[in-house]
Amino acid sequence: MTSTSYITTPIYYVNDKPHIGHAYTSLAADVLARWRRLQGHEVFFLTGTDEHGQKVEKAAADAGMDPQSFTDRVSQHFRDLTGTMGLSNDAFIRTTEARHKRACQALWEKLASNGEIYLGHYEGWYAVRDEAFYGPDELTERDGVKYAPSGAPVEWVREPSYFFRLSAWQDRLLAYYEANPDFILPASRRNEVIAFVKSGLGDLSISRTSFTWGVKVPGDEAHVMYVWLDALTNYITAVGYPDDPAAFAKWWPAELHFVGKDIVRFHAIYWPAFLMAAGLPVQHRVFAHGWWTNEGQKISKSLGNVIDPVALVEEFDLDAVRYFLLREVPFGQDGDFSRSALVNRLNGELANALGNLANRTLSLIQRNCEATLPAPAETAPGDVALRALVAALPATVGGHLDRQEYHLALEAVMALAREANGYITVEAPWALKKTAPVRMAVVLRHLHDTLRALATVLQPFMPDTMAKLLAQLGVPEEARGLDHLATPLPAGLALPAPEPLFRKVEAAA
Ligand code: MSP
Repeated sequence: MTSTSYITTPIYYVNDKPHIGHAYTSLAADVLARWRRLQGHEVFFLTGTDEHGQKVEKAAADAGMDPQSFTDRVSQHFRDLTGTMGLSNDAFIRTTEARHKRACQALWEKLASNGEIYLGHYEGWYAVRDEAFYGPDELTERDGVKYAPSGAPVEWVREPSYFFRLSAWQDRLLAYYEANPDFILPASRRNEVIAFVKSGLGDLSISRTSFTWGVKVPGDEAHVMYVWLDALTNYITAVGYPDDPAAFAKWWPAELHFVGKDIVRFHAIYWPAFLMAAGLPVQHRVFAHGWWTNEGQKISKSLGNVIDPVALVEEFDLDAVRYFLLREVPFGQDGDFSRSALVNRLNGELANALGNLANRTLSLIQRNCEATLPAPAETAPGDVALRALVAALPATVGGHLDRQEYHLALEAVMALAREANGYITVEAPWALKKTAPVRMAVVLRHLHDTLRALATVLQPFMPDTMAKLLAQLGVPEEARGLDHLATPLPAGLALPAPEPLFRKVEAAA
């Protein structure tokens, strides 16, 4: 039986244009989805847009548009981002779709019939920008305005509201975290969430009456659902809840919800509590990544330093950007985007270490082996270290990707590329044609096998460039999965003339 794997990005707010933060969360999810496919899993990879709430209602009004036309327009930018970043998503969900409203209402009714919802009054500090309530002790005050920890201004609201009995789930959530130590990664985020839950959970206001742009509460249409309850439900809508139980049973629970650190609370506390309260299984994992700064500065519209993924990809090529974002910063930590760091990685690791290795090896095979693949060779003492790394590579990379350690996966890849560059220098196959042609062929075959392993595991990170490299290596399209690495390519395979894979970039002026 094939395993199934359901992987999600957050659904993005449509009050803004896509930026590097959105591209980053989606990219991480894309690489895992592609890796799982390479392992032979059946994958459902979801992204989409979060289109309800007061913030969107306001943004639409500011743009002089009705909310639906406004969200139609902005949602398209996020659909375009999937093309810009080369995402392999299987679906794109919008919370304004009819099926999603049905799913929200079905989940609400389930929670209500389980006694998890009651009507009360909400009174408290609310930040429209975050669509979240804050306790008084969380706020700071400047010039008479109170601010949430996120920097968003808060306002006092009092209105009738339905509540979810979150407080009743505190102990069960803690027991769940205890029993599932990898439910929240990285560990630093898990500790934060646990501390927050231990500090005490109040009941959660889950409806509003002060605006209308949302999913109506079934049976009480003066209320619209709290936007986070609506938004989180997208993860089950997309896999068939409640209309298609077979699809739902196939895909749910999700393997992984990718999120930024700012929204871990919603995914690791509220969402599992809603699911448990509705009698549904909880997702396997939430991974919360860190935030990017730009050349040392916090990224913000007012500072005018927002990084546009489209411009970045135009300047540096998609695969170089994909590689850099996951290579530069340990996934889970904050990181700084700098042009010079990108240029260094691109020139040093992609163009030099990997690109030159491929070019040198394949050019030598062209010239000295009649453009055909040498026979598989016995391992001589000098080849042992290289062969061992090649053999271990898929499991090493897979182990890291199972824990979303992209930077370590890429470090393992680069360690092998460095080893292979050392090997080619020491063995100097270009000098062996006359003196030791048999050994030359052996060395080139080892290098070819090394490149095949490197290109195979790098496909999820740099799909287009690795497709080119695998074609240059003569690996048929249907033999590019991880399992195929165990079967050597046949000797005598005709290889096309190599072409450069990466373009070097001048250091910034
Ligand atoms: N709509 C909610 C998510 C609902 S999911 C059920 C939302 N949307 S968002 O558009 O504001 O943010 C989406 C993602 O972008 C978050 O994961 C957030 O962490 C990420 N980023 C926004 N700015 C970022 C950086 N500067 N750096 C890295 N990621 C950042 O939240």
